[in-house]
Amino acid sequence: MKTIIVQADRGVLCEDDLNTAANILRSGGLVAFPTETVYGLGADALNHEASKRIYKAKGRPSDNPLIVHIADPKHMERIARDIPDKAFKLAEVFWPGPLTMILNKKDIVPFSTTGGLSTVAIRLPASGIAKDIISRSGGFIAAPSANVSGKPSPTRAEHVIADLTGKIDMIIDGGKSTLGLESTIVDLSSEEPIILRPGCITKAMIENVIGNVKYDKAVFGKILDEDIKPKAPGMKYRHYAPEGCLTIYEGNIENVIAEINKKAKEITEEGKTVGIIATEETKGLYSYGNIKSLGPREDEDSIAAGLYAVLRDFDDIHADYIFSESFARGDLGQAIMNRLLKAAGYRVVKA
Ligand code: TXA
Ligand code: MG
Repeated sequence: MKTIIVQADRGVLCEDDLNTAANILRSGGLVAFPTETVYGLGADALNHEASKRIYKAKGRPSDNPLIVHIADPKHMERIARDIPDKAFKLAEVFWPGPLTMILNKKDIVPFSTTGGLSTVAIRLPASGIAKDIISRSGGFIAAPSANVSGKPSPTRAEHVIADLTGKIDMIIDGGKSTLGLESTIVDLSSEEPIILRPGCITKAMIENVIGNVKYDKAVFGKILDEDIKPKAPGMKYRHYAPEGCLTIYEGNIENVIAEINKKAKEITEEGKTVGIIATEETKGLYSYGNIKSLGPREDEDSIAAGLYAVLRDFDDIHADYIFSESFARGDLGQAIMNRLLKAAGYRVVKA
């Protein structure tokens, strides 16, 4: 398949390209587009055949449901039923933005979009290009992250181009995603709201609006045991996995640096390629391997925005081993560590 690749100019896509994208989506095709979190791979969410195409292009297991993206908050009621007040409140405060809500679905949403579930995930993104595309294409666009299943989510068009060229109809290059981690998912389909995936809208921010919420057990737990069944089916897969073996070093930062230096030396001397995930404060203190800084240690926004690109950079140089410092689990830190731990398959060494 020929993939059309177009570029936005300073966050704005020209009319012709918008129309091309809308025509493709309206006729059941696939278009990758930028959002403020990560790039999404869009298809008409109400068209069973179109959403099936997403699974095929990504190599995604068919039981892993898609998020339906809307451009008008009122459209939530067209696809969800029994919507609790809390959902309206959250929509009012956090939409457009990086929040996805799980609600009971209406019949109009095909089971192929929801992975067979009777609930539907809904998000109204902040990105102007995303909103334009959604509203011109019927208003309901299913969009998982636009990566091949198992790869880190794409935060730049180059990542999408590397993964999906030849497999989808169109890719829209809108520059770097500003947030860099996928949306927060909160399940409001039953009495008790539960965070299924942490993101830039933090637990504290949600609690400010609707009171107590819990994390799903699977958010920080190792998902090997049968007894921990994540409520978001996607959280059970070993997502975000780099090619190399990633280990997180935790503890006093001097000890972490010493341990990583020791390991990096050993492995470099075996002739293997080493990647190190560091920060501005520490990047000068490593003597071996390919060192990448995610920014100042206190700047969680920068760490979140750069994490996936660094993991992909290490794939590009075929790093055999990647060693990462760990990060504070403050507000956004919860989301950062959730993704890093998954990418590492929960390999953590105490230094
Ligand atoms: O920021 C984002 O959310 C990005 C952009 C493109 O909007 N999208 C994204 O989609 O991250 P995806 O498909 O990569 O992740 C969706 C997650 C999966 O873990 C899936 O299992 C979960 O949402 N999910 C979707 N529908 C669900 C439902 N009805 N119940 C529980 N979990 C659901
Ligand atoms: Mg994904």
